[in-house]
Amino acid sequence: MKGEKAFQRCISASCGATFDVGEVLVACPRCGDLLDVVYDWSKCNPPGGLAEFQRRWANRNRPLDLSGVWRFRELLDFCGDGQRVTIGEGQTILQRNDGIARYVAAKAGGLFLQYEGLNPSGSFKDNGMAAAFSHARMVGATRVACASTGNTSASLALYAAHAGMQAIVFVGSGRIAFGKLAQGLDYGAKTLQIAGDFDACMRRVKEACARLNLYLVNSVNPFRLEGQKTIMYRVLEGLGWQVPDWIVVPGGNLGNSSAFGKAFAELKELGLIDRIPRLAVINSTGADTLDRLVNAKKLTWRDGNYDRRAIADDWKWQDDTKRLPHTIASAIEIARPVNAAKCLRALAVCDGVVRAVSDEEIMNAKAQISRGGLGCEPASAASVAGAKLLISQGVIDPSARIVCVLTGHPLKDPDATVGYHTAQYPKGKEVAGKRLFANMPIPVADDIEAICAAIEGGA
Ligand code: F0G
Repeated sequence: MKGEKAFQRCISASCGATFDVGEVLVACPRCGDLLDVVYDWSKCNPPGGLAEFQRRWANRNRPLDLSGVWRFRELLDFCGDGQRVTIGEGQTILQRNDGIARYVAAKAGGLFLQYEGLNPSGSFKDNGMAAAFSHARMVGATRVACASTGNTSASLALYAAHAGMQAIVFVGSGRIAFGKLAQGLDYGAKTLQIAGDFDACMRRVKEACARLNLYLVNSVNPFRLEGQKTIMYRVLEGLGWQVPDWIVVPGGNLGNSSAFGKAFAELKELGLIDRIPRLAVINSTGADTLDRLVNAKKLTWRDGNYDRRAIADDWKWQDDTKRLPHTIASAIEIARPVNAAKCLRALAVCDGVVRAVSDEEIMNAKAQISRGGLGCEPASAASVAGAKLLISQGVIDPSARIVCVLTGHPLKDPDATVGYHTAQYPKGKEVAGKRLFANMPIPVADDIEAICAAIEGGA
C-alpha cells in the first residue's frame, strides 16, 4: 500500500490490516472489524488553508467544482477525476435560526441548522452516494445494493439510474415512509420488501451481496463515509471557516457521526483547524442502542481496543428478549447500528455525548423547525430535540455556537406530519403526548359565508 495516495485499513488497534483501495470490502477479511479509507496526505496535495476550497465556487459550470462533495476532493482523494460520480449533491445551506435558538433556550445568533434536505434525493445520503458510486465505478461494479429505512434506498436508486447500474434495495415491510418508497420505485430500483425490520434487511443484504457479487453501499462501505465527511466541511464553510462548539446529529446506523469524527480528526491532523467541536449523537428512546452502550454500559473507544464483546452481548440480549425498535422517526428505527465502533471513536475524538429523545419531543421539535423555516423529516428533528435536552441538562452552554444537522426533507414522511397536526397517525405509528404546535385543518362548507367566517375566526 506504500506509495499509494489512499488505502483501506482495519480500525481495530489489534489488527490494523491494510488493503488496496481497489478491493471491494465491507469488513476486514482478517478480523471482521470495520474498515477506514486512509490517506497519504503528502500525495493528496490538500490546500494550505480551508478557505482555498471556496475559490471553486467561481468554477460552478464544472460538475466536480459544483459538487459539494468533490469541491473538497483533495480531502477524499481515493479515485481519479474520470471516476468521480456527481449529480450536483451538496448544494446545502447552513441557516442561522433564532426561532429554534429560542425554542432550545440557546443564545440568539448561536443556533444553526445544516439543511441536507436540499440534496438531489432530499437527504444527506447523496453525499455518501457520490463517493460510494465513484468507488463502484472504479472497481467496475454493475449491480449495487443496500438495506434501508428509506433514504439510503432512495439515494442509491437515483445514483444507480444516473450511473447506469442496477439498483437492488432491501426495505422492511411497512416500515418505510412513503415519500422514500415512492422515490426508490420511481427511480427504478428492484425493491425487496423483507418480512422483517431494518436489522433483518441489513443481515440479508450482506448475505446476498456476498453470494451474488453485488456492490454494497450501506455505511459499512468505507468509501460512502468519505463523502459524508463533506457535510462538516460545508458547516465550517457556512461559519466562515470557524469551528462551532457543538455538532448535534441524529444517530441511526451511526454512519454520519462516524464520518464527522473522521473529518475533524483529519482536519486537525492536517493543521486546517485548530480545535475540534464536541459531538452530540441523538437516538430515539424507541431505538436507543447507542445511548445504552455509552451511558449505561460505559462503552468507550479505548484507542481501538473497545469492548467488542459488550456489543455482541447487547445484540444477543436484544435477540433473547425479542426487543424491537419502534419510533415515529422511522429513519433511525435501528437497533444494531453497524457503525457502533466507529461512532465510539468519533465520540472519543470529539469529546462527545449521547442522548435519547422521545417521539413526542421529536415531533414537537419538527413542527418548530418547519415554522421557523426549512422543515425536516422526523428523524432529523431529533437533533434539535437533543440540543434542547442537552441545554436543559447544562451539558451544552446556552451561549455556545451549536449546529444541528437536518438530515432529510420534510416531504419524505408526510404521513407523520399530517398525523401530528390532525392526531390521526398512521396505524401502528401513533405518538403519545402533547402536540404542542398542532395546526388542524378546518373543515368548511362550500359556501362563501362559511369560508369567510372560518378565515376571520379565532386562531
Ligand atoms: N436521518 C435520516 C433522515 C436518515 O435517513 C438516517 C439514516 C439517519 C438520520 C441516521 O443516520 O445512520 O448515519 O446514523 N437512514 C438510513 C437509511 C439508515 O437506510 O436511509 P446514520
